[in-house]
Amino acid sequence: MITSVTDDFWVLETSQMAYACGLDPDGRLVHTYWGARLPAQADYPRPQATPESSSFNQPAQLVAEEYPAYGGPKYTEPCLKASFPDGTRDLDLRFVGATIEAEGQPTLHLRLRDAVYPFTVTLHYRLHEDHGLIERSATIRHEGDGPAVMLERVWSAQWHFPAQQQTRLTHLAGRWYDEFALHRETLTPGVKVLESRRVTTGHDHQPWFALDLGGAQEDHGDVWFGALAWSGNWKLAAEVTAFSTTRVSLGVNDWDFAWQLNPGESFVTPSCLAGFTQAGHGGASQRMHDFIRDRVLPDGHTLRPVLYNSWEATFFDVDESSQTRLAEVAADLGTELFVVDDGWFHGRNLDNAGLGDWWPDARKFPNGLTPLIERVKALGMTFGLWVEPEMVNPDSDLYRAHPDWVIHFPSRPRTEARGQLILNVARPEVQAYLTDTLSRLLQENDIRFIKWDMNRSVSEPGWPDAPGDPRELWVRYVQGFYQILSTLREQHPQVRWQTCSGGGGRVDLGVLRLASQAWVSDNTHAAARLAIQDGYSRVFPANTMEAWVTDADRGELPLEFRLHVSMLGLLGLGGQLLDWTQAEREVARTQIALYKSIRHLVQRGDQYRLRSAQEQAYSAVQYLSKDRSEGVLFAFRTHLARPATLPPLYLRGLEPGALYAVEGMEGPRSAEAWMHMGLSLGLGDYQSAVRKIQRLLG
Ligand code: DGJ
Repeated sequence: MITSVTDDFWVLETSQMAYACGLDPDGRLVHTYWGARLPAQADYPRPQATPESSSFNQPAQLVAEEYPAYGGPKYTEPCLKASFPDGTRDLDLRFVGATIEAEGQPTLHLRLRDAVYPFTVTLHYRLHEDHGLIERSATIRHEGDGPAVMLERVWSAQWHFPAQQQTRLTHLAGRWYDEFALHRETLTPGVKVLESRRVTTGHDHQPWFALDLGGAQEDHGDVWFGALAWSGNWKLAAEVTAFSTTRVSLGVNDWDFAWQLNPGESFVTPSCLAGFTQAGHGGASQRMHDFIRDRVLPDGHTLRPVLYNSWEATFFDVDESSQTRLAEVAADLGTELFVVDDGWFHGRNLDNAGLGDWWPDARKFPNGLTPLIERVKALGMTFGLWVEPEMVNPDSDLYRAHPDWVIHFPSRPRTEARGQLILNVARPEVQAYLTDTLSRLLQENDIRFIKWDMNRSVSEPGWPDAPGDPRELWVRYVQGFYQILSTLREQHPQVRWQTCSGGGGRVDLGVLRLASQAWVSDNTHAAARLAIQDGYSRVFPANTMEAWVTDADRGELPLEFRLHVSMLGLLGLGGQLLDWTQAEREVARTQIALYKSIRHLVQRGDQYRLRSAQEQAYSAVQYLSKDRSEGVLFAFRTHLARPATLPPLYLRGLEPGALYAVEGMEGPRSAEAWMHMGLSLGLGDYQSAVRKIQRLLG
């Protein structure tokens, strides 16, 4: 519920969280409260006058503004920085009005206008009451008819936290092949920046944060968390001020950014979602999972099929017969979706040619893809295909015809990475080419799944004939990418999409509006994968987490262990199945059947990280159905020096007072016994267990 307590003070409440802001006596729009819901509206603090601290620290510098703009005596991170045609680089935003939209998800709109210039900022606060989340964005508008205003920074939101000496930031960091490592650090005065400058979300950091005051644990304690729904350059600035106040701002990266805002035009920022929970870091993740499944994903509740992907089996050696033989074994093991990865299209024999020419290679598929697709369908599977639409190899028909379509500076060499350049998908003609070419591919072939890859980052970010400021590229590129993907989705609703960028380089709440699942990492070693998946689960639900068993650790780790690791998300196979022994195939068949019997719990249930694989060699994850009637427990032991005593695993979330049976354990026992006495498993190095949990009718 959103309440206008007075005409200058607003309270946003969900069942457990509240957020309050209003005008201070000097007319500034300031933040006053974010945390647990309080019993009465009178409990929420009203904005107070802020006295000057010194000539160096005037009130403008001290207050917690909802959306600080650069202007006046302010030196902390602003959300907005603009330059007016007369050279003024100072904003003086004044409140002009508020409206509350009560329909659907209630939304508060707060309108601000510059004191002198025809320039407005509208802040939007959409309340997701069922999920305890606030979605913020801002619309910046040039209301005049004079020359353009240049925007230099336009962030989505600034979030303020209770003043405290110790605030702890949890975030994810990594690199290609090693994504989603968890970091937790106490913030000190100054600004901690996480960002991407690569034109994608990137492998290095996630536009996500969790913040606590030092004491939050996995399953209890106050945690504030948030994420930006954007798949391009982004920036997160976590600032502790000289007065020990903490704020976290998120938005499009202002690094190399500029935007020419013409008269009558608006710039709308991406959304930034944030919430508060008293249920610890695990509770914060569950909120995100539910929200992503319920509100973000195009098909958040549809069960995902068991997939086969050809990449690590055949690499570029893809042809009709190699894929048919793989498909036959994959189907026999229980696979439901057969995906042909890189290597199928015109001129693609290695990574140095072909990108851009999205039709089947005539040598590899003399009769097109149809014979393979028909065979895959006859085997009872659906067919999927890999593409990398934003890319082009110089050795391609497309590049030979349109060398100017790539991102480049005319005076500079075009740096290739993996032998490829990036098409400027901000250009309408590039959007049209890709939409038409891919649409034809989807029309002519019965394809039900597309893996959309992106295997390099930008360099020489030029756009020689840009209609506005060439630095708009960073944003317009992402808008172009969204545009192509959404048009294709509309034209081909039978197709489901996967986001991939050399593994997990483009996973975020923006792309997940269009793609149902993500390839999390090119690292398919099960032991490494446990930690990567744990990090991924901090933000994203298991039904987006594609996980294949390949041959990367074949012979090193038991197949059952590797399959169990992949069963934590969307189980898939990606090995050279023709080399697998009958014994291996039997293990795979059995485990795939087991996965099908529990996937509704993994993909739709609540996830509990009982012991984090980021920190523990003995880790465990539990999934529980929403009605708490059934669940499944996964436990993994990697390497522990002997003698090792494995601690009990304490189940979570069971219905108090109910009786539960846990497969293979003595029982039934009460929910309380499983949760407080726990259960012990005897696992050796690189052994794993999957145990079904069942509530009994009492
Ligand atoms: C990178 C992806 O992450 C891999 O799964 C595979 O699709 C290759 N690209 C193909 O080039």
